[in-house]
Amino acid sequence: MRFPSLFRLSSSLSVARQPHLSRHALNLLRMASTQASAFGLKDPSLIKFQGFIDGKWVDAKNGEKISVTNPATLEELGTVPDMGLSETKEAIDAASRAFPAWSRTTAKHRHDILLKFYSLMKEHHDDLGRLITLENGKPLAEGKGENTYSASFLEWFAEEAVRTYGEHIPSPISNSRNVVIKQPIGVVSILTPWNFPSAMITRKMGAALAAGCTTVIKPPPETPFSALALAELATRAGVPDGVINVVPTLKNVVEVGKEMCENKMVKKVTFTGSTPVAKLLYGMAASTLKKVSIEAGGNAPFIVFDDANVDEAVEAAVICKFRGSGQTCICANRIYVQSSIYADFASRLAEKVAAFKIGNGLEEGITHGPLIHSRAAEKVARHIDDAVAKGAQILVGGKAIPNTSFFLPTVLSDVPIDAQINKEETFGPLASLCKFETEEEVVKLANDSDVGLAGYFFSRDVGRVWRVAERLEVGMVGANTGAISQAVIPFGGVKESGIGREGGHGIEEYMNTKLIVFGGLGMHG
Ligand code: SIN
Repeated sequence: MRFPSLFRLSSSLSVARQPHLSRHALNLLRMASTQASAFGLKDPSLIKFQGFIDGKWVDAKNGEKISVTNPATLEELGTVPDMGLSETKEAIDAASRAFPAWSRTTAKHRHDILLKFYSLMKEHHDDLGRLITLENGKPLAEGKGENTYSASFLEWFAEEAVRTYGEHIPSPISNSRNVVIKQPIGVVSILTPWNFPSAMITRKMGAALAAGCTTVIKPPPETPFSALALAELATRAGVPDGVINVVPTLKNVVEVGKEMCENKMVKKVTFTGSTPVAKLLYGMAASTLKKVSIEAGGNAPFIVFDDANVDEAVEAAVICKFRGSGQTCICANRIYVQSSIYADFASRLAEKVAAFKIGNGLEEGITHGPLIHSRAAEKVARHIDDAVAKGAQILVGGKAIPNTSFFLPTVLSDVPIDAQINKEETFGPLASLCKFETEEEVVKLANDSDVGLAGYFFSRDVGRVWRVAERLEVGMVGANTGAISQAVIPFGGVKESGIGREGGHGIEEYMNTKLIVFGGLGMHG
């Protein structure tokens, strides 16, 4: 594993020819330009070191900053402002002022702007993919893959914008008609996680903008640069001032989050993240009975029956478990394998995992990157220690690399049912294998969880495929596949995994349904 310096200087912004700027402003611009160049993007002006409020790039009022590091090298990438309550209120005010005009634009107008935004994301694919890798650590192929996924939400919701149909309901009352229309809900607070620095924003913002809503985005402090680059591209696409606002925060996260949930001007809150934080935000949003959509934690079962195609199941387990180094809410967390194929499956999976190449995701050939920070590695280690103490065996990996954010991709076999990993998601590169005997037993085990986001299973028995798909208590099932993510699907969970659905028909979550009863129409009968 090598960690070369990632700071490749590329051509800087042209700051010399700015006669209208003061010497101080010019120096600041020069500094930002040099810092931006260090990211090695073809278009360094996508890198922003300020928050974005009412169409302006701004610093925190108190000058505080968040240091953003590359998890692969632990080097500082740059800083963004650590904003607080007052900037959040300003952003909400701006979104509220922008709402009347934006909500009255035609759906076709919003469709066109979103498609332009989508094209810009494609045009800057290499840069945006690189940026995701720099701040999140996932390998470049995955960073670019995320950009494609992220952009697809803009394309999808551009197409949804023009299809927010209402309905006509025949009235039982003479001389009267019932019409239902859909209207944008208002200002939306968007709170997103670091595991998908870009896609979790567009999945929410794309739907909100398409519906005619305006937004205030709180990106995660670990990965704010992708969010800010999106704001820049949105501006280039023609999104008006105030429609998108980005408020990075770290120290003031509690008061910023509270304001985003409680402010009366905000009409909807949407969040992706952990279940404990989801519960806090849900409670705050309840104070004004705001509409919420929440995608919270998962603990996905991945079941391999003895009639499965084992090759395909192993391939799928590799992707499903180790995507983003295991840091997605829909990653397989508990792998249950039927006893007669258990040993075969375990050795094939261990062989694949042993061949992973971990390191800086910008380097050629790297298949898996670091965890977001060393704290994340502590939970993985805790789950391993617990399972091993209860009798599990380490087939591959099993430890963190000291003084880095890397954790060796791990396969554990013979994990007992009462191990911690079977109760809570690891969010790390740890495949935990348990043996089972019968369908009934494994469905019970799979459903023995307070959360239910995704679940996967492999079987070639068509009756079993239907039975198990229907019986799993999750919002999304992968039957003979470990890859379910797409813009077009209703993404979301049951139980404590969340509320509402994103993607698919998720534009509905950003609209109010209004009934208009027309009477006295002068029609008799
Ligand atoms: C998540 O981990 O929250 C999202 C995963 C996805 O959209 O694929």
